[in-house]
Amino acid sequence: MMTANPFTISFGRKPENYISREIVSSEIIDCFSSDSPFTNTYILTGVRGMGKTVTMTAVANHFKKLDEWIVIDLNPSRDLLDAFGARLYDALIKNKYELKAINPSAFGVSVLSMEKKDDPVFDIELFNDKLLQTALSKGKKILITIDEAANSSYMRQFALSFQGMLRNEYPVFLLMTGLFQNVTDIQNDKSLTFLLRAKRIDLESLNLSLIKKSYQNILSVPSDQARKMAELTRGYPFAYQVLGYLVFENPSESLSKLMDRYDSYLQSYVYEKIWQESSGNDREFLIAMSKVKGNIKQTAEIKAQSQMDDKTFSVYRDRLIKRGIVKAVKYGEVIFALPRFEEYVQQVNEFDLY
Ligand SMILES: Nc1ncnc2c1ncn2[C@@H]1O[C@H](COP(=O)(O)OP(=O)(O)OP(=O)(O)O)[C@@H](O)[C@H]1O
Ligand SMILES: [Mg+2]
Repeated sequence: MMTANPFTISFGRKPENYISREIVSSEIIDCFSSDSPFTNTYILTGVRGMGKTVTMTAVANHFKKLDEWIVIDLNPSRDLLDAFGARLYDALIKNKYELKAINPSAFGVSVLSMEKKDDPVFDIELFNDKLLQTALSKGKKILITIDEAANSSYMRQFALSFQGMLRNEYPVFLLMTGLFQNVTDIQNDKSLTFLLRAKRIDLESLNLSLIKKSYQNILSVPSDQARKMAELTRGYPFAYQVLGYLVFENPSESLSKLMDRYDSYLQSYVYEKIWQESSGNDREFLIAMSKVKGNIKQTAEIKAQSQMDDKTFSVYRDRLIKRGIVKAVKYGEVIFALPRFEEYVQQVNEFDLY
């Protein structure tokens, strides 16, 4: 009987094979655990598939194990203030704290069903404040996580309230993830000034030696093949899973035979989305870039392949670098950050798919 594939191609869950991001996770853990944290808010950014959700979950799991902490995961597409109140109430009840003075129905909210009644005196912030005071008096700290934050009205409303909690010196901490453009949008919102003090970490690609070692251990492939595979992933976490998955399923197949399937996974899970999220100028830059031969591309040559003026060209180059799609290697030189993305762009262009 074949054993289950130890690699995963699904998003958001902590994979069985996890390449450590210890530097990032321990920075956040150390900061939030310290007596005088220099920030209460961390934001993880990175291109799709870079491991934002997985890293956030790893940090959240660390705190979930500790008695002193209450961890509340919030979904940014719902009413965050409501959900926060409901979860905190629930957590305090589970700790068997006396909450009679904070009867949710007195606030016009049936918290556990998370449904607000049409009560004019209902005030969720007041309700949350009472809960926070209880948590504080019991020496609890609260970590709030928000995956895929974007500048929605729920998000703004919640952020303003969180700002108030910080002013009251409640021990609340926030860990969010988001795509570069969405995070920038939130941070630039003039009403959400506390986010300017948030520490932002842009996730980098995984270490190629660790990837190589992991392939050698799990798949028992020779060193040379493991090295080739690691290079083929460019350190992109999702690609690490997909390639491992394919080689595990097809141990006798050569790598070149697996490329078509590798490409289709990358395309349908990530690259098509990235392309959809790209503007006309982003696309023009990427297509021009894919026409320049070689792995490392001179920006001057890319410029010559495009129709853009100097200013537009550099704006879009910078944007693509910040989004994690293009990587600057040194002055005047860039590469595609994601594996097989160049081939994808060439194909889109060849078949006029955009
Ligand atoms: N440190 C890691 N080691 C190994 N695999 C990882 C690691 N981090 C993420 N992965 C794998 O990469 C894929 C994407 O991870 P994740 O869902 O965390 O990405 P994301 O940045 O949240 O993407 P999105 O922006 O689409 O939400 C998953 O298949 C996951 O198993
Ligand atoms: Mg995610």
